[in-house]
Amino acid sequence: MKPYQYDALVLGAGAAGLTLALRIPKHIRVAVLAKGSLTESATLYAQGGISVVLDKNDSVKAHIEDTLSAGAGLCDQDTVRYVVENAKRSIEWLIENGVAFTRNNDKKNDYHLTKEGGHSHRRIIHSADATGYAVETSLAEQARNAVNIDIFDEHIAIDLIKKDGRCVGAYVLNKGTYQIDVFSAKATVLATGGAGKVYLYTSNPDVSTGDGIAMAWRAGCRIGNMEFIQFHPTCLYHPDAKSFLMTEALRGEGAKLRLPPSQNSTDGKSDEGQAFLHKFDPRGELAPRDIVARAIDHEIKRLGLDYVHLDISHRDTEFIIEHFPTVYERCKEFGFDLTKQPIPVVPAAHYLCGGVVASIDGKTDLEGLYAIGETACTGLHGANRMASNSLLECLVMADAAADSITTLVTAVDHPQKIDPWDASRVTPSPETVEINHNWDELRRVMSDYVGIVRSNKRLKLARKRIDNLKQEIHDFYANHNVSNDLIELRNLATVADLIVRSAMQRKESRGLHYNLDYPDMSDSVTNTYLSLDE
Ligand code: FAD
Ligand code: SIN
Repeated sequence: MKPYQYDALVLGAGAAGLTLALRIPKHIRVAVLAKGSLTESATLYAQGGISVVLDKNDSVKAHIEDTLSAGAGLCDQDTVRYVVENAKRSIEWLIENGVAFTRNNDKKNDYHLTKEGGHSHRRIIHSADATGYAVETSLAEQARNAVNIDIFDEHIAIDLIKKDGRCVGAYVLNKGTYQIDVFSAKATVLATGGAGKVYLYTSNPDVSTGDGIAMAWRAGCRIGNMEFIQFHPTCLYHPDAKSFLMTEALRGEGAKLRLPPSQNSTDGKSDEGQAFLHKFDPRGELAPRDIVARAIDHEIKRLGLDYVHLDISHRDTEFIIEHFPTVYERCKEFGFDLTKQPIPVVPAAHYLCGGVVASIDGKTDLEGLYAIGETACTGLHGANRMASNSLLECLVMADAAADSITTLVTAVDHPQKIDPWDASRVTPSPETVEINHNWDELRRVMSDYVGIVRSNKRLKLARKRIDNLKQEIHDFYANHNVSNDLIELRNLATVADLIVRSAMQRKESRGLHYNLDYPDMSDSVTNTYLSLDE
């Protein structure tokens, strides 16, 4: 077992983790861990872009107001203001670090801005429809070349290490050697992303298993607003298209949601081709995501459909291919021509608004522990995140956290005498079939009972099943060697439990949380905080 010692240990190499590592001054030694390859992350797959006020007709005030309105009363106003005011600075930093954003055809000096749901202006800067790829690969290249950053890919953190009331690092499984190493640090940062894999259908990559949230929970931090799971309205519907998103920018550029052919039309007439969103919200296709996803869910259930159609075929072929090359190519692989026909889509779990309760510079309830990016819950998103505010939060928080960590590491000493990992468990990992069974059951329970529309009965059923699963997984964990899959399954069960408990606490419908037994928004506006002590 190797002891590694760093000033800052960054768990996660998406937009949040890499930005933080690069923002920290060069005299501070940083370890960046990724549990898969360095770039595999939600960031890599981000499509639409990053929200920032650049248009002369737009304003910081309007961006703040749109964010607050999407957040359905639960945003923290100071956090929203801070993030929006620092957006331009973060985008300039990305450009300095090599990110090539799409420029306007007519005015080559200006960046092209697209529009997405909830935004009152064009304010999404993007790199065609592969913004995340441009951000992640540019930052990864800079990090690989940085003298003060050591990169450990294929290393999965298992648990945080606490000593004298502080976080002093993490136990980490090296997936190449199966050794469990101690990484000690003056500051430890959770930049581990979201938890979409807790649902059966998700836009998220396999690494999004909520590890940071589960680790922080076990270390005694408060976890907030876990009931607010954002379902992206439009993921490609095809049996072989795992996790492929049809960016909201398509709707920003005029795509319509329409009903497909249906066997179950109520009045005997065919609804095929009918646009339906205006029945749910006057903003139609550009209403915030919670409304659009619920409207699709409603129509799918009402008409017994498998999917609805997303149609941009009325726009010029050249425009579509220039702005949406990734989506166009991916659709083609599945036999769909985006320029000529509507594409089948369904909502899928996409983003976690809740997470580890943290201030805007990432400080958590535990000294020495920071949480940034999607893992954190800062109050920026409230009850519903506005499109393209997530990458922005990663960038702005990472910048603020870098300042805070720089101060911290000069003020504290390296932790001494950390206990090695308890290697008394010698039984091999549970059989793959046992892990897979629990994993499938957990994700199915969450999709069936804790999806877009919830009820008291469904939440109770989910709680009962998750309790059983947690017990079984706990037994696996206590008695067997750990493996990547067992670590993730344990964390997913914890996250599922936190989502259900938060959803049961909220006796109203607000933003992304809709409960048939409490269909209205209540007058009392509260966050849901869970902690081990309760
Ligand atoms: P991630 O980018 O997910 O990175 C997580 C990192 O943590 C990975 O490196 C992973 O290996 C590592 N990790 C996890 N657990 C462990 C562990 N136990 N040990 C070690 N390492 C670990 N947002 C926008 O603002 N605009 C968009 O256009 C947009 N499009 C999106 C499209 C898709 C398909 C998806 C899935 C999301 C999109 N989002 C978008 C949301 C946004 O991409 C994410 O919220 C954001 O990228 C999260 O960044 P992050 O750095 O917090 O986490
Ligand atoms: C998208 O491109 O539709 C995703 C944008 C986001 O999640 O912010």
